[in-house]
Amino acid sequence: MDQVTGSNTIVPLLTAQHRHITALLDALVNATGDARQQAFREFLHFLALHEAAEQEAAHPAARTGAGGVVEQRLAEEYHAGQTISHMEQLEPNSDEFGRLLEHLVAGITGHAHREEQDEFPALAQVADVPTLIRVHHVIALVDRLATAASPIDRLPFVDQVAARRQHFRGAATGA
Ligand SMILES: [Fe+2]
Ligand SMILES: [Fe+2]
Repeated sequence: MDQVTGSNTIVPLLTAQHRHITALLDALVNATGDARQQAFREFLHFLALHEAAEQEAAHPAARTGAGGVVEQRLAEEYHAGQTISHMEQLEPNSDEFGRLLEHLVAGITGHAHREEQDEFPALAQVADVPTLIRVHHVIALVDRLATAASPIDRLPFVDQVAARRQHFRGAATGA
């Protein structure tokens, strides 16, 4: 197994993406006025890419060694999507948006921590090379697509995740 395809490169990529999500959340919490809507969009763009890649590649690969853990993480991702769907209906500077944002920050911070503690060790145990290549390819795509504007960014968050998953599914199979 080489350094490019090994699971020892997948986990650091995912962990770095978690740090980026934390930075985007900090920027969103601290943004005021018109800047808050933009910060919300930038956060959703990256979170949709990251969660879609996990759902298409990382979670299925980790499921063999940590099935129950993966189901819990999927439930948390669903819950975050529900909160975000509610926030998308609100004015970003409203009190209700701020209340939900606090809830979202706590949820996403805990979710990322539990992935790192409970799921990524199972991912690091994956030895099947074709699986490792596919997972690495999809997770690395997140960072490449993060800097590219797309019409997908204008969709509601849950639809962004669905569209990104469809894209990653094709990329993962070479389609
Ligand atoms: Fe996740
Ligand atoms: Fe994650």
